[in-house]
Amino acid sequence: MRLIFLGPPGAGKGTQAKLLTERYGIPQLSTGDMLRAAVAQATEVGKRAKAVMDAGQLVSDEIVNEIVSDRIDQPDCAKGFILDGYPRTVPQAIALDKMLESKGLKLDAVIELKVDEAALVKRMENRVAETIAAGGAVRSDDNPEAFRRRLAEYREKTAPLSEHYAGTGQLRTVDGMADVTAVTAEIEKILA
Ligand code: AP5
Repeated sequence: MRLIFLGPPGAGKGTQAKLLTERYGIPQLSTGDMLRAAVAQATEVGKRAKAVMDAGQLVSDEIVNEIVSDRIDQPDCAKGFILDGYPRTVPQAIALDKMLESKGLKLDAVIELKVDEAALVKRMENRVAETIAAGGAVRSDDNPEAFRRRLAEYREKTAPLSEHYAGTGQLRTVDGMADVTAVTAEIEKILA
């Protein structure tokens, strides 16, 4: 099973990807998590990505395409994977199409979580509050200014992917405003 989750920041891509990981026994490939790990380890990629991520902008296509291509080659992706936060631009989607073709792989579905933008700031604030309560480190891009920029980047660069995948016949849309369990049930219905 090879899936893509599409949706704006806070739509629930990571939440649903984690739940499906357990259900299907395939890894969640979050480019956001991979980039945050690179920043924490101060690798070359991490050093280049940090300021861009903190400002809520997108890291270059070249960097993320390479990270994803290398990750897909790992043995735990043999049975499939869930892409969470990638692709995020039309050039990334085209690169992914080529990447999968060159590896002899096919996508099973592209699932878009449709959400009301007005609810997203509240979700980000909840995540910040929950992280602090749990004694964790708040993401450096989970603040009002960077979040506004992330939403603007989404509208400008990522939203056009819906049309791209509608064109290939792979796009499925789910109501991301329902509660987490209902969203999962809707996704499982699509995948059944
Ligand atoms: P990334 O880490 O991918 O962040 P994001 O897309 O902004 O998404 P979030 O993690 O904020 O949201 P989510 O949709 O996963 O929601 P979640 O499940 O956490 O990217 C971060 C940065 O990395 C980018 O800005 C960019 O700089 C860089 N980057 C990453 N990928 C890139 C790429 N491909 N190209 C270039 N740059 C890239 O849920 C959010 C909150 O809502 C949680 O608290 C959750 O509990 C809650 N929630 C979830 N579902 C529900 C529900 N149904 N009802 C109520 N609450 C819910």
